[in-house]
Parts: sequence; structure tokens; C-alpha cells
Amino acid sequence: MLTLTRSESSATGQIDRRFHLHSQTNLHRHQQQGPLVIARGDGIYVIDEQGQEYIEGMSGLWCASLGFSNQRLVEAAHHQFNVLPYYHTFNHRVSEVTARLAERVAVLSDMPEAKVFFACSGSEANDSMVKMAWAYHRARGNPQKRKVIAHQKGFHGSTVMGATLSGLPNMHAAFGLPLDGVIRIECPHHYRNGLPEESEVEFRDRLIADLQRRIESEGAENIAAFISEPIMGAGGVIVPPTGYFAAVQALLKRHDILMLSDEIICGFGRTGRWFGHQNMGFTPDMKACAKSLSAGYQPISCAVVSGSVYEVLELQSQQLNGFGHGFTYSGHPVAAAVALEALDIYQEMGLPAHNLGMGKVLHEALSPLLEHPLIGEVRGIGLLAGLELVADKNTRAFFPASLAIGAQVELAARKQGLIVRNMGDSIALAPPFIITPEQIQAMVERLTAALNDVYQSIGQRP
Ligand SMILES: Cc1ncc(COP(=O)(O)O)c(C=O)c1O
Repeated sequence: MLTLTRSESSATGQIDRRFHLHSQTNLHRHQQQGPLVIARGDGIYVIDEQGQEYIEGMSGLWCASLGFSNQRLVEAAHHQFNVLPYYHTFNHRVSEVTARLAERVAVLSDMPEAKVFFACSGSEANDSMVKMAWAYHRARGNPQKRKVIAHQKGFHGSTVMGATLSGLPNMHAAFGLPLDGVIRIECPHHYRNGLPEESEVEFRDRLIADLQRRIESEGAENIAAFISEPIMGAGGVIVPPTGYFAAVQALLKRHDILMLSDEIICGFGRTGRWFGHQNMGFTPDMKACAKSLSAGYQPISCAVVSGSVYEVLELQSQQLNGFGHGFTYSGHPVAAAVALEALDIYQEMGLPAHNLGMGKVLHEALSPLLEHPLIGEVRGIGLLAGLELVADKNTRAFFPASLAIGAQVELAARKQGLIVRNMGDSIALAPPFIITPEQIQAMVERLTAALNDVYQSIGQRP
């Protein structure tokens, strides 16, 4: 098996192991292998403390959409630090840039009469949507409407509610989660969950019929909302069947259940549209955005609320004398200034059409990998791609978990100078929007070399 010992002896590595409790990391293994210390960034590349350069094929965590050295974003932050480094949004206060960002996001949002609530992380934006869904139904005389429908393999964050909504067992095991109140439904992944001989359309229709039955058995009067990513990122970049979300939306409407779109990965152009729900043919009642909103340069997120939901919240807050929700750093002016600049740059780059074009280049470059003996499926939209590693292409059998094949590919890719992410046996790519066609070719070549290395290391030759 391939191993990497790169940072073990560095001073930063030692400090990190001694003092830093990492996010989403095997803490015990970390004590043995230490961190990959990234020292600096340059365009689509990051450079580690030993000077090794990597193509950042994941934009960090699907977020550094303008790469790692955009001076305009740096300047926007610098300027705002000088003008007003902090202000808040409680009790009718606002900074100028925050109001302007709300306008920009609302206008882009493709939701009628939208209003924008700011937070700092994707998890907070999702939590905020759930609280607002509860508030909406309470205000309309349905306080028992509390449950939320969410997919297996969906990922919605690490806060108590974010993890509860997530359909990934590793988010739950240590913590006695999920909390009660989630209606978990099948992951809409035809390749994995379709029955033998079942077409994608039949699969979709079966899931919709199941959802209808589930709503009836749980009682629509107990259900507040449905949440989904348009394309499920951390679950393995899963693209639901055509027409799936439109059928879901029709069902939800009949039962007065709000539709929440988690656009934290998809939002702001990654899919070749401004938002993933536009690719998928539905208009949510609320959507959560983060990541590309500030190109990852500042921690900022938002929940965009449709006018019809907002009206109810406004009336309720008049009755209760306040909207009892919000964060110290909601609408932080430096984050807002950076986000405004990022949106300017996206528009100057010709997004979202630019990403549609680059997405075509990416998927054309990846499609030959379908012939690779390790790859069962290549999927995705725009600058978002997933590859499924299989032991047998015909039966779609998984590799034994003990082989950790996905982690092996991730490590082999790093040795080739490419950062990808493995989620179990799926490999994700979500490169910065600034990637060029030549850099896409280089990225795919490095990935192919990594797959070949792993294939050889498990005793076979491509
Ligand atoms: C789809 C989705 N939702 C929510 C989150 C949580 O965002 P954060 O880590 O900023 O809380 C993520 C993070 O990757 C995500 O991909």
C-alpha cells in the first residue's frame, strides 16, 4: 500500500500534531502521519512546505473558485478592513457592503422577491433554513410541522442540525446522532441504487412513489421541509435522474412542505448555471449558499428566502416583536466586500456560461477513464465531477473496505502533484473556475497516472 510521510519531521507538523484538533480527520492516524502543510498558493496550484506543487483539483473544499492568489479579492478585503472592519446586523444595523451584497445575491437568485440572511458557514445557513421552515409553519398555525426529509448520502454540515440532516453514517457514529425528526430517503443514484434492468426513468418514478408513500405514512401535517443538494457532493458527486426534483417539488407543493436547496457546493456557477436548482429544473422556497460566494477567501454563507416565506416571517416577527435568530458575524463587512468582488469577477469572466464550456472540456477529458479497469462510472455537471472505483465493472462490485482503494487513489494523486478528494470509493474533482483547458488536461493526466499506479500496486497492470 502507498504511504506518505512527507511532513512528519517538519516543525509545523510537530506543532500541529501536538496542539491542533483537526476537522474531519482520523485523529489517531494524524498522530502517526502528521499533516500535509500547505505553505502558499498560486492560481490553481498550492505548494507545500517542501516546495512540492499540486494542482488543487478540489478548490480546497469545493470553494476556492478563483484559485489561491487572486489579488482583487485581497485588495477588496484590505480596503474594507480600512473602511469598516466589523459591524453587525442585529437590531436594524447594517454596513453598506452587506446591504449591497444582499441585493446582488437576491437579484441573481432566480427566486421571487427574495431576501438574503447571512451567516458564516454552510452548516449555519442550513440550520437557519430549518429554523425558518419551522417558524414559517408555526406562524401559519401548524406548529407540529417539524420533520425534515433528507437523502441518504446527502451532506448538510457538521452542526447538530447539519449533521442530523446528513445521510452519512460517519457524521453520526461518535455523537449519537441523528436527532429525531429526519425522514431519510433513498439516495437518487441510479448507478448504485437502480434495480437490475431498471431504467433511469423507472428508477426516478419508483423513488417518487416511495416518497409519496413516506409522506403519507409520516403524515404531511408533521413535515416541515425537504432538503437536498441539487448534486450531492460529499456523497460522491451524485447527479439525480432528469426530472427527479421537478416531480419532488410537485409532491411537496401538494402537501405544504417547503423545498430547501443546499447550494453550498453548486451555487454561484460551479454547475454551469448560477445555481444547481436551475440545472435540475426546480425553484426552491429557500436555498443555502456559501463556498463560491466568497471564492472561499472569507467565511460567509447565506440563506436566500423566497418572498412568500419571508412575508410570513415578517408578520410573525411583528407579533413576537423580533426575529430571534442571527449571528455575531452575520453579514460581516469584510466577508461581504470580498463576496461582492468575487461576484464582479464571476460576471466579468462570463459565468455561468464560462463554466459550462470548461465543464464540457473537463467531462470530455475524463470520459476515456470510463475504459480504465478501476472506474465504473464518471459523472457530474460543469466543473464538478465524480468517478466511482469498482472492483468489477460488470457487477459494479465494491473493493473490500480494507483495501481503502479511494484513499489509495487520493494518495497516489498527491504523489503525481494533484489534490483530489476521495469519499469512500468515489473520487471528486471540483477545480477552480480559472482553470484553463491545458490545465484540465494536465489534471486528468495526473489522475490517470495515479489510477495506473494504484492498479499496479494492487497487483494488476492497466
Ligand atoms: C453541500 C454542503 N452543505 C453544507 C456544508 C457545510 O458547510 P460548512 O462546512 O461551511 O459548515 C458543506 C461543506 O462541504 C457542503 O458541501
